[in-house]
Amino acid sequence: MEWKELQNLLKDMSLEEKVGQMVQIPAKVMVSGGIITGPAETVEMTEEMISLVGSILNRTGAKTLKQIQKNFVEKHPHHIPLLIMFDVINGMETIFPIPLAQGCTFSPKLVEKMAKVTAEEAAARGVHVTFSPMLDLVRDARWGRVMESTGEDPWLNAELGKAMVRGYQGGSKISGDNLDLKREGNIAGCLKHFAAYGAPEGGREYDNVEISERSLREDYLPAYQAAVEEGCAMVMSSFNTWNRIPSSGNRWLMRKVLREEMGFDGVLISDYAAIEEMICHGIAEDGKEAAKHAIEAGMDIDMVSSAYIKHLAELVRSGEVLESLVDEAVMRILKLKNDLGLFENPYKDASEEMERLLLACDEHRALAREAAAASFVLLKNEEILPLEKESEEKLAFIGPHVDNAQIYGSWSFPEKPEGTVTVKQGVEQKKNGCMYESGCPVMEKGAVTRSGYREDYSGINLEQMENAALEAAKKADKVVLCLGEHSGQTGECASKASLRLPQQQLDLLRKVHRVNSNIVTVIFSGRPVELKEILEKSKAVIMVWMPGTEGGNAIADVLFGDHVPEGKLAITLPRSVGQVPIYYNCFMTGRPNRDGNSPGFVNGYLDETTKPLYPFGYGLSYTKFEISDVTLSAKCMGKDDILRAKVTVKNTGQYVGTETVQMYLRDVKGSVVRPVKMLRGVEKVTLKPGESCEVSFEINEKMLRFYNIDMNYVSESGEFWVYIGSDSSTEKKEGFLLQI
Ligand code: BGC
Repeated sequence: MEWKELQNLLKDMSLEEKVGQMVQIPAKVMVSGGIITGPAETVEMTEEMISLVGSILNRTGAKTLKQIQKNFVEKHPHHIPLLIMFDVINGMETIFPIPLAQGCTFSPKLVEKMAKVTAEEAAARGVHVTFSPMLDLVRDARWGRVMESTGEDPWLNAELGKAMVRGYQGGSKISGDNLDLKREGNIAGCLKHFAAYGAPEGGREYDNVEISERSLREDYLPAYQAAVEEGCAMVMSSFNTWNRIPSSGNRWLMRKVLREEMGFDGVLISDYAAIEEMICHGIAEDGKEAAKHAIEAGMDIDMVSSAYIKHLAELVRSGEVLESLVDEAVMRILKLKNDLGLFENPYKDASEEMERLLLACDEHRALAREAAAASFVLLKNEEILPLEKESEEKLAFIGPHVDNAQIYGSWSFPEKPEGTVTVKQGVEQKKNGCMYESGCPVMEKGAVTRSGYREDYSGINLEQMENAALEAAKKADKVVLCLGEHSGQTGECASKASLRLPQQQLDLLRKVHRVNSNIVTVIFSGRPVELKEILEKSKAVIMVWMPGTEGGNAIADVLFGDHVPEGKLAITLPRSVGQVPIYYNCFMTGRPNRDGNSPGFVNGYLDETTKPLYPFGYGLSYTKFEISDVTLSAKCMGKDDILRAKVTVKNTGQYVGTETVQMYLRDVKGSVVRPVKMLRGVEKVTLKPGESCEVSFEINEKMLRFYNIDMNYVSESGEFWVYIGSDSSTEKKEGFLLQI
């Protein structure tokens, strides 16, 4: 439709129809005729209200969604189709590694490919919009949703967020690509959760956020902004408060920062029931006041609450809310429907035929396998890995994750979860005659998952499980221990006060270690976990996060050396939960603790070092790399100059391997305290043994800008250091002067 036609359509719509466009309800209302559960139970909607809504969420499947759409469009007074939204965050049927693991690939290319496949599968299943990417910066591993973020770095999150947007939407606004949401296999992205949802106090889900405007702007907003610039079609507001105001009613945040400063002109949706939650927050008397706050803040769609549907029309009629606010929101929603081509084809790409062809097809699974292997981070290896396929040595795979298929993390809803490859199944493809024993359950007795399941060990013979595992460990030359979190303890509402692995798993480790000390430990988790004892008792440790559909194959590939590890930590690993929040791009205190353990009146703890267990960017390979000193193309840089920083990387080991070369900058003196290091460039290079190559990074003045003492976004003349190395702890540096 042309713009003019959309405007005419708007003019022709009744106020109730317009408000309907601004309401999203769960799809199950349409399928089962009026039943709403969970936090939405209070949405008492009449049949007429339901017949006018603009969008639905949480249902996939070409057949059902086409049926829902057909019935809906036929009955709607203007035949306006529904937008269909769903959380497809790391895959639809082919489940890729969780976003935190995707962060550890440090590869926008790979992340874009995964997003593209995700979009193709989701589109075939009838989805128009995915609630992804989640670009919340996270520095606290206690928060359950750390698994949904790509880590702790604003720059890396921005690069990977842009890659996801390109993958979903099929192009980029910024590069002038032909971004066409109508094209088959493209869906709209919805970045979330605006803003700063990743910094809840104490890591507690839905908690208040207390960060300064400077930190908000400098650390938390850049990734959202990058995705907006890339052309992300939608934005979701967050549950949390910032500056004591819930985001869904924060006019400054939405109208000033998001729309005016960032230039976002797409559709803004609240998080689930978040508008009505302003009553509970204590800033709205009732649904009517909550609706008023939200529309004035610029919220276009009310996700599953009754605030808009019940009160918006009345607020307009009484003159308390301007109709123009409703009109501008509805125009944005109609425009998105039009951009997706829904007026011509309300079903878009929903197709049972394409579902059969595309979902978890060989090509998609191959990508899932490659991506998972690239996301694993090898933390320690005392020459025990890789394992040999052909040798006579006996291997025992022990632990609750050995034959566990629940390795997706939350928000993964494959129709056929039985298609997931476990470690056992993956290893069986490589080597015969290995022993496999679970040893103990995944969860501790009494532990709960996010959905409320409580582990009670009923029907489990713990002694028998353990004995079988210890027998296998005794017989084996090497033990591969597969430990970690339950996938139901990751994601929304899965915050934890402890980062320790469950007690029965630590006991298993200790007992196995007594009979066999040749241990390789594979850790499954959706967050950084405490690893001190695991490192002490293992000769090798590898983090595999929640690796998805092809997890078992990818793990076998890496353990047996068919894929040489290349992942790097996208988040700092703390030694203990007491160090949290801990992140590499921190600030120099007036009393720095130079080696982390210095006594006296310096920054730090009495009972713990300030150093992390492993720094951001860290990860080993089976081969070795040497990175030369840094050289710069000039010692001085003017405002319009481009400086080149160079190193030579050499593979000095025995395997073909991939190194992720990282460039960090430091602003030595500023009008406000600057981070000790900031990632500003990444280059992945694959080298044969003995081979070397030059890696160079460009530095320009824009990369040096920050919010200065007057909150202006500028760079300041002075000295800068350029670090290039294999992780954030690198000390190899060269300095230059910025003169502007
Ligand atoms: C989550 C969002 C999600 C939405 C819809 C909320 O509980 O916070 O991230 O997109 O539900 O499922």
